[in-house]
Amino acid sequence: MQKLRIQGPTRLQGTIPISGAKNAALPVLAACLLADSEVELHNVPAVQDIRTMLRLLEHLGVENERLGDAVILRPTGCANPDEAPYDLVKTMRASVLVLGPLLARRGHARVSLPGGCAIGVRPIDLHLTALEALGAEVTIEHGYVEARGRLRGCRHRFLNPTVGGTENLLMAASMAQGTTVLENCAREPEIIDLARLLTAMGAVIEGAGESTITIEGQDRLGGANHTIIPDRIQDGTYLIGAALTRGDVTVEGARSADLAPLLEKLDEIGAQVDVSKDRIRVRNEGPLKPRGMITEPFPGFPTDLQAQYMTLMTQAEGVSTVSETVFENRFQHVPELVRMGADIRIDGTYARIHGPSELSGTSVMATDLRASACLVLAGLVARGETLVHRIYHLDRGYERMESKLQMLGACVERIN
Ligand code: UD1
Repeated sequence: MQKLRIQGPTRLQGTIPISGAKNAALPVLAACLLADSEVELHNVPAVQDIRTMLRLLEHLGVENERLGDAVILRPTGCANPDEAPYDLVKTMRASVLVLGPLLARRGHARVSLPGGCAIGVRPIDLHLTALEALGAEVTIEHGYVEARGRLRGCRHRFLNPTVGGTENLLMAASMAQGTTVLENCAREPEIIDLARLLTAMGAVIEGAGESTITIEGQDRLGGANHTIIPDRIQDGTYLIGAALTRGDVTVEGARSADLAPLLEKLDEIGAQVDVSKDRIRVRNEGPLKPRGMITEPFPGFPTDLQAQYMTLMTQAEGVSTVSETVFENRFQHVPELVRMGADIRIDGTYARIHGPSELSGTSVMATDLRASACLVLAGLVARGETLVHRIYHLDRGYERMESKLQMLGACVERIN
């Protein structure tokens, strides 16, 4: 199994380009199931989750061709299964995003239940209740969710904002009969990106990025040409790295509005943040101030940057707190950070970090995607050699992280 070897401490300095957002590309790829002709996507990141989604789409009758950072998707037109099997879904929860489009286009879908994952139980009940409100008949049997029926527009209020649920319903309602009004929707930038693609395919959507979204269902959706937005979580990870290592990092192609809660925090803790049209620069020379943080749905602080922020706070001068309100089990990186010398106490979904701690390199185990990133960051400030094991988690969402860190002057290598 591959690992990352990091020699620290180091200072990140330089400019890097950023790749397309995995979390935007996954629903956009699922939406290609709705198109009756070719969809051309640009800025598609070359990460493991995308390869898994492309395999799933092939299985469901959409073939793909990769040309650099572009992917062309074509419906094969043959009779294809309406089923997302366990083998594909188990490696990636986002597979459940094919449920809405399959059902809307073919009147039937059978998708393996994704189950929980390292960071929490992660049910899909809110997706299913919403599909039922649209007229689907939903049954759960033998570990699969099966949905059938002709979808009709309706008014539905999500009990809580859910990113995947909002995306699934946006796709389903785009081919339902009549008008759908969705309330209490998630407002993440990735949802706006999906709506942009659906609109280019012929859907009529109003309010994406707001709590209430109105969708006029269409009989058919066609091909489109679409560019995926930049990955705000990857951007955020490297910018945190700049503040952490007293470095100076510019991320090209970044969108500051998508990163506002992080940029505000970086400014508060004493880093210098410069924003221009399509680049963000973060510099830090002095000591870091401790600042508390609470994860929340967008436009709050993203849970996907919580672990990385915690690594940063291990170097702040004083006590800071982190409260995780989105997932119930997202502190698995903490014992590993503590093994490296961090002083962190956990009480349920609340953590208290006493800084600054001098971290020292050792072997650490990645437990999930964002936890892996936080351990790599910790390795950059730790004294000596850090070995991050199980980086297949990292490869699910970060495109060649070691190359980008090398471009910034870090001594990082991938070893077998
Ligand atoms: C997406 C992101 C993930 C990010 C998360 C929160 C993708 C592929 N993944 O995940 O990286 O961490 O948003 O920003 O885009 N919930 C329910 N029932 C449901 C659905 C969700 O109880 O039917 C709960 C979840 O357990 C969680 C919360 O709602 O506690 C938010 O989940 P949700 O927004 O749906 O996250 P995902 O779409 O799974």
